[in-house]
Amino acid sequence: MRTQIATLAAAGLVGAGLTVFAAGADAATTTHEAESATVTAGVVESNHAGFTGTGFVNTDNAVGSSVQWSPQAAAGTATLRFRFANGTAVNRPMRITVNGTEVSPALTFPGTGAWTTWQDATVTATLKAGANTIVAASTTATGGPNLDSLTVIDRATGGGTPVAVNGQLRVCGVKLCNQYGRPIQLRGMSTHGLQWYPNCVNNASLDALAGDWQADHLRLSMYIQEGGYETNPRQFTDRMHALIEQVSARGMYVIVDWHQLTPGDPHYNLERARTFFAEIAQRHGSKPNILYDVANEPNGTPWSRIKTYHEAIIPTIRAADPDAVILLGTHGWGSLGVSDGGSEADVINNPVNATNIMYTFHFYAGSHGTEYLNTLSRAADRIPVFVTEFGTQTASGDGANNFTRSQQYLDLMAQKKISWTNWNYSDDSRSGAVFNSGTCPGGPFAGTSRLKPAGVWIRDHLKSPADAFPTA
Ligand code: GCU
Ligand code: CA
Repeated sequence: MRTQIATLAAAGLVGAGLTVFAAGADAATTTHEAESATVTAGVVESNHAGFTGTGFVNTDNAVGSSVQWSPQAAAGTATLRFRFANGTAVNRPMRITVNGTEVSPALTFPGTGAWTTWQDATVTATLKAGANTIVAASTTATGGPNLDSLTVIDRATGGGTPVAVNGQLRVCGVKLCNQYGRPIQLRGMSTHGLQWYPNCVNNASLDALAGDWQADHLRLSMYIQEGGYETNPRQFTDRMHALIEQVSARGMYVIVDWHQLTPGDPHYNLERARTFFAEIAQRHGSKPNILYDVANEPNGTPWSRIKTYHEAIIPTIRAADPDAVILLGTHGWGSLGVSDGGSEADVINNPVNATNIMYTFHFYAGSHGTEYLNTLSRAADRIPVFVTEFGTQTASGDGANNFTRSQQYLDLMAQKKISWTNWNYSDDSRSGAVFNSGTCPGGPFAGTSRLKPAGVWIRDHLKSPADAFPTA
């Protein structure tokens, strides 16, 4: 966020008591045996060992032979895990539908080596609350495999969360890839400055963000100046530890945002950054869901100098968290240089000397038109880019929304799988804060009753289209 909001400095708000969220006691995945499901053109058998329950379904070797389950689930993204055996050497694809909607035209059920050797095939899908109709139907004349069971790992169980599905991320070429090496797009929210709006990040708001909003990640925006980290490093670091645990408990990715802004030269805060990131990486480096955002919006500083900051801070993080993706702020307030009279070529021609890194891009659709849009589009073909902050209004985070321009950005980012993060999940009075003033800390944070127009719009775009992360 580039605009100073000095009038809102509210000393003393930081460090309010926090209860660390514990995963629900009812967390459990449910397995549904095929032999108890509805079988069309197939028979229940038990002549090949290794099945669970009392048997398995031998689907007829014909197009359309199928098994239909009707599991109860929580609303949201879930992983569907089919246990199967295929004693042939040939794939036995099945079409998977959920409540009549196709989630996979031909899920792969490869040969397992023997009819007694059972494996899993998984696909992600959006489930509704209550009963869901899940059908696996053979798509070729060779029929499906022998089907043992369906396990539904839904969001209520913690199993179908973005982190459970995607695991440790890494940069592959110019994309962000999941644990299966497949490119993904993360869509999430940023907090406002934690020194100003700590009351908007609590168990209820995080439950809503993960469940009702279907966010994949939360960026924890920790300012350094303006009443932020520098005023009490111990307290801010402890708060970050607690928030990382709370977000992680809900299966979302965390972007740890070192929100330097004024002064614009990140070297000004390098020693502070080393202290902070060393401790964060040490404590959380073994988690699969941490991304480090090491310089929010460098400005008034040439790229060549920002690059030397990145090359100074990266080793501090790598020492304790060698495999994390590190996000690197670009010149011109994260505009890949455009707002400082530069361009993405400055970065492309002088890249940071490190691997598993992405460059950040920020935009505000009310201020930043085609020049910025085209910059993002061009850059994303050449270097890994992660949009760690954007708004649908002007660069102040306030003013009229431009949803038409915002949609152009979202379409581009969907097409190129550029991850994005919307500013901001707070009840600040400005138009870019999703909640009406006074919503925090009590909520409600789910639904639309407390949302400003930008909040309604962005929540819609987080929920739809639903995540469809590749799992193979
Ligand atoms: C064999 C095997 C069955 C299997 C069938 C098939 O008959 O015993 O369990 O379903 O091959 O090819 O589909
Ligand atoms: Ca068969």
